[in-house]
Amino acid sequence: MIIGIPKETKNNENRIALTPDKVEILTQANHKVLIEENAGINSGFTNEEYNNAGASILPNPKEIYLNSNLIVKVKEPQPSEYEYLNKKTIMFCYLHLASNIELTKQLIKKNVTSIAYETIVNPNGKLNLLYPMSEIAGKMAALNAAQLLTNKSGGQGKLLSGVVGTLKAKILIIGCGTVGTNAALLANNMGADVTVSDINLTALSKIQELSNGQIKTIYSSPSNIKEIIVSSDVVIGAVLIPGYKAPKVVTSDMINKMKKNSVIIDVAIDQGGCVEGIKPTTHENPTYSSDGIIYYAVTNIPGIVGNTASISLSNNTFPYIRDIAKLGLNKLLNNKSFINSNGINTYAGFITNREVALSLNKNYTDINNLLENNN
Ligand SMILES: NC(=O)c1ccc[n+]([C@@H]2O[C@H](COP(=O)([O-])OP(=O)(O)OC[C@H]3O[C@@H](n4cnc5c(N)ncnc54)[C@H](O)[C@@H]3O)[C@@H](O)[C@H]2O)c1
Repeated sequence: MIIGIPKETKNNENRIALTPDKVEILTQANHKVLIEENAGINSGFTNEEYNNAGASILPNPKEIYLNSNLIVKVKEPQPSEYEYLNKKTIMFCYLHLASNIELTKQLIKKNVTSIAYETIVNPNGKLNLLYPMSEIAGKMAALNAAQLLTNKSGGQGKLLSGVVGTLKAKILIIGCGTVGTNAALLANNMGADVTVSDINLTALSKIQELSNGQIKTIYSSPSNIKEIIVSSDVVIGAVLIPGYKAPKVVTSDMINKMKKNSVIIDVAIDQGGCVEGIKPTTHENPTYSSDGIIYYAVTNIPGIVGNTASISLSNNTFPYIRDIAKLGLNKLLNNKSFINSNGINTYAGFITNREVALSLNKNYTDINNLLENNN
C-alpha cells in the first residue's frame, strides 16, 4: 500500500502522524511511505531521518494525496486541504465530524472512506486512539489553569496551590474520563483544591482512590454544578459521549454566577464544547475574555508539545496503520472486528457512524448494508 503523510496545516499544529521508527517498519514490509517535506521538523524529526527510514520526501501535499491509498494525518483536513480529497483516499486521522458539518459534506461529496481516531473502540470498550492525546490535553489543562489564574493572564492573581495562611485555588473538573483524570491528578499534585464531577460513579470512585481521597467528587447534575461553580476559580470541561456533539453541561446561567476573572477551559471544544456559547480558540490566541470570564478553548491542545504527542500518538495508531496497510481496504471491510470498532465515519458517500449522523441531523447508513450491496 502507498501511505501518505502530509504536513499538518492547523494553527500551531506541530505533530506528525507517524514517527520514523514506525515508518521504517512499514517500508521494510514493502509498503511505500510518502512524506511531505519538513512534515516532522516541528516535532523533532528531520527529512533525513524519514529518508533513512525508507520514505520518499515529496515537496507538496497535492502529490501526497494524489499518489497515496491511505492518508495518515493528525488533525482533520482543513478547508485549504479539501481540494485534495478524492474517492480513492482512505483518511485516517482525528475528524470530530459531529461538530463539523462542512468537512462531513466534503467527505460525502468526494466519496472518501474516513476513519476517525476518536470513535475507534477497542474490544475492551476503550477509545484507545483518543486516549493518548486526552492524557496530554488533561495534563496541559492543569498547567494552563495555573497560568491563567495569574494577573498577567487577566486572572484573579491566585497561586494554584496557595501558601500558608491562604486558600488553594478551587478547580471544578466536569467529566472524569482520561482528560478529567489527568487534569485532576496533576492539579491535585500541584496543590489545588480539586473537585471532579461525572455521571459515572465508578470513574469518581477511581479518582478518589488514585488521590487517596484528596480529590473531592460530586455527581454531575445541573443543580450540583450550579452550586459548586459559584466558588470555583477554574472550570475544566472534559465530558464526552463518544461520537456525539458534547452536551452543554455548563450553561450561561451558571457562568453568570461565577466570580469575575475566573477561568473556563473547555477541552471538549473539539466535539463542539460543553460550555454554552463558547467559541473555539487557537494556540496563537488561546484565550478571550467575555463578561469578566476568561475562556480557553484550543481545539488541538497537544499540538504544541509536538515531540511527546507525535511519539505517543504514533505508538498507539501504528498497529491500526500496519493492519490497514497489510489488508488493503477491501479485505479490511470484510474484517468484522474492524467494522465493529466503530471507526469508519463515512464510506461511499454515506455517514456510517450513528452518533455523528444523529449529531448532525443527517441520515445514518449501516456500513454492513453498503458492503452487502457492493458484493
Ligand atoms: N481540545 C483538545 O485538544 C483535546 C485533546 C484531547 C481530547 N479532547 C476532548 O476532550 C473530551 C474528553 O475526552 P476523554 O478522552 O477524557 O473522554 P472520556 O470518554 O475518557 O471521558 C469522558 C467522561 O465524560 C463523562 N460524561 C459524559 N456526560 C457527562 C455529563 N453530563 N456530566 C459529567 N460527565 C459526563 C463520561 O462519563 C466520561 O467519564 C473529548 O471531547 C475529547 O475529544 C480535546
